[in-house]
Amino acid sequence: MTALAELQAREEARFAETHPRSRDLAARAAETLFEGVPMHWMRKWPGGFPVFVQEAKGARFVDVDGIEYVDFCLGDTGAMTGHGPDSTLRAMTEQAAKGITLMLPTEDALWVSGELTRRFGVSAWQFALTATDANRFSIRLARHLTRRSKIVVFNWCYHGTVDETFATLDEGVVGPRGGNLGPPVDPAQTTRVVEFNDVEGLERELRHGDVAVVLAEPALTNIGIVHPEPGFHDALRELTRQHGSLLAIDETHTICCGPGGYTGAHDLEPDIVTIGKPIAGGIPAAAYGFSEEVAGRLAGSIELEDVDVGGVGGTLAANALSLAAMRATLGDVLTEEAFARMIPLAERWTQGVETGIAEAGLAWHVTRLGCRAEYLFGPDRPRNGAEAHAAGNVELERYMHLYALNRGILLTPFHNMALMSPATTEVDVDVHTEVFREAALELSGA
Ligand SMILES: Cc1ncc(COP(=O)(O)O)c(C=O)c1O
Repeated sequence: MTALAELQAREEARFAETHPRSRDLAARAAETLFEGVPMHWMRKWPGGFPVFVQEAKGARFVDVDGIEYVDFCLGDTGAMTGHGPDSTLRAMTEQAAKGITLMLPTEDALWVSGELTRRFGVSAWQFALTATDANRFSIRLARHLTRRSKIVVFNWCYHGTVDETFATLDEGVVGPRGGNLGPPVDPAQTTRVVEFNDVEGLERELRHGDVAVVLAEPALTNIGIVHPEPGFHDALRELTRQHGSLLAIDETHTICCGPGGYTGAHDLEPDIVTIGKPIAGGIPAAAYGFSEEVAGRLAGSIELEDVDVGGVGGTLAANALSLAAMRATLGDVLTEEAFARMIPLAERWTQGVETGIAEAGLAWHVTRLGCRAEYLFGPDRPRNGAEAHAAGNVELERYMHLYALNRGILLTPFHNMALMSPATTEVDVDVHTEVFREAALELSGA
């Protein structure tokens, strides 16, 4: 057994021993849930079974074994507001008593769309229930508008369960991403893939003249954090305009950069903005907005007869409860003042991890984007998705996550990301720093 496998076995034994009730529930769940989990990706949690939650509030939660955790996963951004923010809870409770879903607008839609316009610049908004749907609908409308068949995404992006985006580059050739289940068609038919920060590659793909829209996170967050290089966004904007392709910026995770996401913080000028996850404090809600120019071109292009059957829809979308939750969350929770607290906490988390890495002499690095921070198992900041993917290490990741979980800290199950909420404290951050330091020192034997 390797040293890492031995450490992993020790942590798994400790986890099983200290979580008897979760272990018991997991065993019972296998009787009625497919592979014992309500959502298949929950199998990814380290330790052999997931922790079952008793209750959550702010940046903490308690499991069914009575153990309290600092939550840096925060529902992988869905709970970036902290769990159950008071204002959102109040608004939801009041709205639920007055009607949950009607397929009719409530006045909150005006306030929310006005606020999204103020934050992100684009001014013609629609609502959905998930960021996945916001992206799917935007892609459809972009193809409809441009009469072009393809989209461009960046290698190793993630934009939700959107068929067209499950494509990666293998030695320069587009193919289905590993694990792409039952793709409707080979994604090479729908998608051109470019490495992030590769302006030449982008131009080469756009030159084909068949790209309806480039769908991009403004900084990659789903394969570790990959920052745009200076000038990349200017080139992206200029080239998409030059080649008649729309530019959709997915702010679902990069809302971590500030109230207006990366777009607001860096004055980007996208044609479409998509966002979901935390904007309603965890209540399912998402939004996608078009620039005035694109909205003008779209208006009148869809027959009234077809507006409910064109592949853009959802009877629960824009429901009264989601809109009330969005209004309260944007108005009172994800505010300028909240980000002014959250971003320094992420800086503190980053410094703590940096010190731990240096002390242990590991060839790792840590990077930050607004109130989100992440360590990667390589010495250098990746320039693109391929480099970030190459720095991945599944065994190390599982070990670090389980080590943290066994000591009261939850990180995302997907990579080594930590997110600060308005309820996170310096004490929470320092607890992580100490646990990370111990793990790093033990691993390196320093
Ligand atoms: C950038 C980005 N966009 C969209 C999504 C999809 O969000 P959801 O799964 O809530 O639909 C995700 C999910 O992780 C994401 O990271």
